[in-house]
Amino acid sequence: MSRSVKKIRVGILISGRGSNMTALIEACARPEYPASVALVISNKPDAAGLEVARQAGCPTLAIDHRPFGKDRAAHEHVIDAALREAGVQVVCLAGYMRLLTPFLTQAWSGRMLNIHPSLLPDFPGLHTHERAIEAGKRQHGCTIHLVTEEMDEGPVLAQASVNVLPGDTPDDLAARVLKEEHRLYPEALDTFIRTHFPES
Ligand code: GAR
Repeated sequence: MSRSVKKIRVGILISGRGSNMTALIEACARPEYPASVALVISNKPDAAGLEVARQAGCPTLAIDHRPFGKDRAAHEHVIDAALREAGVQVVCLAGYMRLLTPFLTQAWSGRMLNIHPSLLPDFPGLHTHERAIEAGKRQHGCTIHLVTEEMDEGPVLAQASVNVLPGDTPDDLAARVLKEEHRLYPEALDTFIRTHFPES
């Protein structure tokens, strides 16, 4: 018999197609999984992932960054207020492509996870697959880490590796890594919650 779990409320931030978000939503739908999706926020109103989340029955919000111009922290204050209003306890960045200010990273310190498509500390930033191929790496992969003030630098929670094969294009490699991302993120969030919220 499966034990009943008290689900931790997770907020997911996206900017695009949201395939990692989908992997998290699917995991959260399992009765024994210790999290539920309380809110999905996109900084891009036309992000494909928003519609996917709506179809899955998740509350969604588009909080467009453009009206805030260069004031990133003002945009983040609105995001933070929405997360708190929704009772979010843990935030998962899932392809959220905005640099964060210290306001949001401090507000969610120790409670905000990110997925990055490289074996950090290798290749922080963009174009990770192309850079791994150019560097002649034989292994590449993805990382789940806690978010700190420095981009792609927080403590690593989990990593998954794939082989870089001769003749791989960046798209080939991205597809191989993405498959691992979809497995790793739900697994790492599960472990994170069971460790940090033992009552769940
Ligand atoms: C994923 O590969 C994720 O690791 C990456 O963006 C993609 C989003 O895809 N994130 C970053 O590069 C963050 N620095 P998705 O919207 O289908 O999950």
